[in-house]
Amino acid sequence: MILYGASGHAKVIIDILIDNKINIDGLIDDNNQIEELLDYPVYHCLTKFNSVKNKSYIVSIGNNRIRKEIVAKLGDVKFGTVVHSSVILSPFVSLGVGVVVMHGSIINSSSKIGNHVIINSRAVVEHDCLVGDYVHISPGAILCGNVKLEEGVWVGAGATIKQGVTIGKWSVIGAGAVVISDVPSNVVVAGVPSKLIKVHDV
Ligand SMILES: CC(C)(COP(=O)(O)OP(=O)(O)OC[C@H]1O[C@@H](n2cnc3c(N)ncnc32)[C@H](O)[C@@H]1OP(=O)(O)O)[C@@H](O)C(=O)NCCC(=O)NCCS
Repeated sequence: MILYGASGHAKVIIDILIDNKINIDGLIDDNNQIEELLDYPVYHCLTKFNSVKNKSYIVSIGNNRIRKEIVAKLGDVKFGTVVHSSVILSPFVSLGVGVVVMHGSIINSSSKIGNHVIINSRAVVEHDCLVGDYVHISPGAILCGNVKLEEGVWVGAGATIKQGVTIGKWSVIGAGAVVISDVPSNVVVAGVPSKLIKVHDV
């Protein structure tokens, strides 16, 4: 496995790869000042991995827009999906490619998780949720049942989203928010209950 992005987020993914007994071939980062992460080599050029057989990638960057850009840059490569052994995962869940499911999280029955999604530590995705591509559900956040997150949504740490609510594309839910009704695309909401605090410049 090759990780693209030598960040703090990548350190946690390395733990998951070790837990899954997956070989780590190395990392790539655009910042050529970074030479290693947790003793794994960090390279600055994809060709470094030309000789690796059956390679697959995970983009180890928490920012949803940057993760999407890097996935596009990598083009037609194979992406892995990894789940820490402490996760409770219903057999009726579908997971896309490039997904990372971190320590202690729960994904319940009939939820569908898109591509390049991060389900961070101890997050809860209840039954029948639809999670779009490039979503990040931060540590301890809770999606009650039948929640829909469209592409690129970032749910802040410890936020709770009430059952049946839809969050529009690329919107951000502040840490600790309680979201009780639908949120449009490209906005930031925060607070209990959550209120609009910003509209993105997109
Ligand atoms: C919501 C968030 C994205 C807003 O960031 P921002 O756009 O830089 O906003 P600002 O810090 O300029 O704050 C704007 C206003 O919203 C308020 N605010 C910001 N975050 C808030 C939050 N989580 N809950 C309640 N109010 C919040 C600020 O107090 C400020 O209010 P004011 O205008 O009355 O002073 C950010 O604060 C946040 O919660 N990020 C999530 C962090 C997280 O979960 N990290 C996990 C990483 S894995």
